[in-house]
Amino acid sequence: METHRAHCLILPYPVQGHINPMLQFAKRLQHEGVKVTFATTKFLFETVDEVSASISVGTISDGYDEGANGIVPEIYFPRFQKVGSETLTELVLKLQDSGRPVDCIIYDAFLPWCLDVAKDLGVRAGVFFTQSCAVNNIYNHVHKGLLKLPLEESGVDIPGLPPLLASDLPSFVSNPGLYPASSQLFVHDQMENFEEADWIFFNTFYGLEEEVIHWMAKILPVKTIGPTIPSMYLEKRLEDDKQYGLNLFKPMTNACMSWLNERSISSVVYVSFGSLAELEVKQMEELAWGLRASSYHFLWVVRESESKKLPEDFVKETFDKGLIISWCPQLDVLAHKSIGCFITHCGWNSTLEALSLGVPMIAMPQWTDQSTNAKFVTDIWNMGIKARPDETGIVRRDVINQCINLVMDGKKGQEISKHAKKWKDLARQAFDEGGSSDKNIKDFVSKLIQS
Ligand code: UDX
Repeated sequence: METHRAHCLILPYPVQGHINPMLQFAKRLQHEGVKVTFATTKFLFETVDEVSASISVGTISDGYDEGANGIVPEIYFPRFQKVGSETLTELVLKLQDSGRPVDCIIYDAFLPWCLDVAKDLGVRAGVFFTQSCAVNNIYNHVHKGLLKLPLEESGVDIPGLPPLLASDLPSFVSNPGLYPASSQLFVHDQMENFEEADWIFFNTFYGLEEEVIHWMAKILPVKTIGPTIPSMYLEKRLEDDKQYGLNLFKPMTNACMSWLNERSISSVVYVSFGSLAELEVKQMEELAWGLRASSYHFLWVVRESESKKLPEDFVKETFDKGLIISWCPQLDVLAHKSIGCFITHCGWNSTLEALSLGVPMIAMPQWTDQSTNAKFVTDIWNMGIKARPDETGIVRRDVINQCINLVMDGKKGQEISKHAKKWKDLARQAFDEGGSSDKNIKDFVSKLIQS
């Protein structure tokens, strides 16, 4: 018979950047003796090749079991709420009937309706924010009416945060009219009821966002449990934890790692914009020519859906200089000795990964939380520089080339390397025995089993 200290059901929003951190949290809880059921949508469960062997998976439905490609957020979010609430309830009841009652539902902050499901079922709930404390503090200020939209000033002062320009704010705040349904979800819906959850988790660590965490912790029971990257890239206490373990894209591991093995130390520029961002054709061209003009090798992740935007013959022409692949094992790439810098959209996971592995960044934020992450990467954590767009919003090829030279070759690169060691150490310490994230996880587990 299985013996467990408690049973948590963990439900992420079904995209790569939310699955990865919540799956890692699941592994940390399992390590503390908690049973975990990781819930995915039926569609995802049937499309992915494998899920990390140690994790039990349960399925719910977002209302689109054949896939939601082409469905706009205005339709997707309410349907997910309706069908998701019903099927999440069914899953919890099914687990109860099979002798594995759920003690706590840990749900993605993007799915705020899960709190109502938990309350109706009489189960405790923890809300999990996959983005930074800074970003959520900004959303909360807007939601509470403390920061009025549209912004009237070119800059803002928010408690716990450094002075920010409008262009440093998340796109759903600086330009709320662009994606109305997503702005509503990020800025309002997820902020509406999170304070009623029994626990509030953030994928960040104390040393990284000390000021804002300190400020938020005065009013809310905030628990930081990050950086949620596999243990073997941090403190190495979970021996089998080498990969995230649930890929929505197929990584071209062999091609990419053997190519990197041929390159010399710190000689490669790694480029990726994560799992969702769609670049303008003009931006793709400028980036391509900027990479070709640079004197360094490059490894560029261009997802299949983006590949038609590459300039004609670019792959052929740059054959001896760069490798373009549709997906890679990003942690292995960032940890490889040949990588000299990372041109990134500053998605929160990529940012935490680069910080934890000490890789200098060239920030090219696209949308959502990325501008705010980029601001912290460049001006607060001193881990990179921003590639500035022109007045049309495009980062030009010469800017890209200059940034690469600055980070790979110049004084800026040396300065970043000094900071890199500090962040790498602090990230690891958060998960060492008694570190802030380790303590917060243990504290959560002990409260869960006591009550
Ligand atoms: C989204 C948002 O865009 C991001 O801003 C938010 O903070 C989280 O959700 P995404 O755009 O996919 O995520 O970016 P990111 O947060 O960086 O997550 C991407 C994940 O995919 C990372 O964990 C990264 O390691 C992984 N990845 C990316 C790969 O494994 N291989 C790749 O080739 C590219």
